[in-house]
Amino acid sequence: MTDQSAPPSALAAELAAHTGRFSDKTFDWNAFPSNAGFADLARAQMRYIGAGGSPKVGDTSTLKPDHFTLSLIYKETGKYAACHSHEIEESFLIINGALIVGWEKDGEVVEVNLGPKDMILNAREIGHGFRVDGPEPVLMSISVDVGKPLPPVYHYHPKEHPPELARSFGAAPGKTLRFDPKGAHPLQQLMARYVIRHSEAPTIWEDAGFTRKVYCGPGGLATDTCRKEMWGLPSRCALAPFEREVEDAFLVLEGSVVVGWEENGETVEVELGPRDLVKTPAGRRHWVRNDGAGAATVWHVIGTAGDDGVTYTAA
Ligand SMILES: [Fe+2]
Repeated sequence: MTDQSAPPSALAAELAAHTGRFSDKTFDWNAFPSNAGFADLARAQMRYIGAGGSPKVGDTSTLKPDHFTLSLIYKETGKYAACHSHEIEESFLIINGALIVGWEKDGEVVEVNLGPKDMILNAREIGHGFRVDGPEPVLMSISVDVGKPLPPVYHYHPKEHPPELARSFGAAPGKTLRFDPKGAHPLQQLMARYVIRHSEAPTIWEDAGFTRKVYCGPGGLATDTCRKEMWGLPSRCALAPFEREVEDAFLVLEGSVVVGWEENGETVEVELGPRDLVKTPAGRRHWVRNDGAGAATVWHVIGTAGDDGVTYTAA
């Protein structure tokens, strides 16, 4: 029997410090100062790893980023984000709701409608904004790389442009095109290389007994930042320990999983439910397992764009 009064080991404390619990965190409605005073731009951010585009980089309740940040963004119906660009890659993974993302160039905009588990990777220096027109709010996970955390450059902010133009990301009437991978417009063709539909990404069954859909990295969208994958772990699926040369993160979307760490023969584990996260540092032996009755869906971000040579085996 474990002595409940004993202090946790250093490894257990480190795992706890690398665990982000949805229920321990709060949504920050003031994460983006440029939105202040504009009710239509309101959005809330919950930070797990780094500040993710917010200047609130000193938040000690978030994990320190190595190669990527990870946060949740919540946006209510009718609200939008003004068209801006930055020199970092930024992915939007939709968790709930329908999100319209627009890319703008020279006054023309291509808009794509994204549903749950769809993702767009916003390319560097491309003007982009987003909007919720549907009847339900949107929750999404945003990750950016941590290369140069410069503030965004706004192209069509409502403080400088009419609200209708800002809401359409800079497209005057008749200047909005729909997303179409077969479209002739160069912006349609460009955006098509940066959108992943969950329903179109191949499902890879690993011999270890779980599924992967590759969103970013070899087999998915081209990126030079991080690999991103959607994993499906059936009930009682358990992976043997593996380690990477870079950090990785598991964010549970559905179901529950156990994440474990091993160091010098000691093992520690933590159970994660929906919207809980563990970030594992580079070089740490770790594993994931589904002890539950239902399948688990997990968003997995890996701090390198290339194949790190890790293979997965069943425990
Ligand atoms: Fe952005």
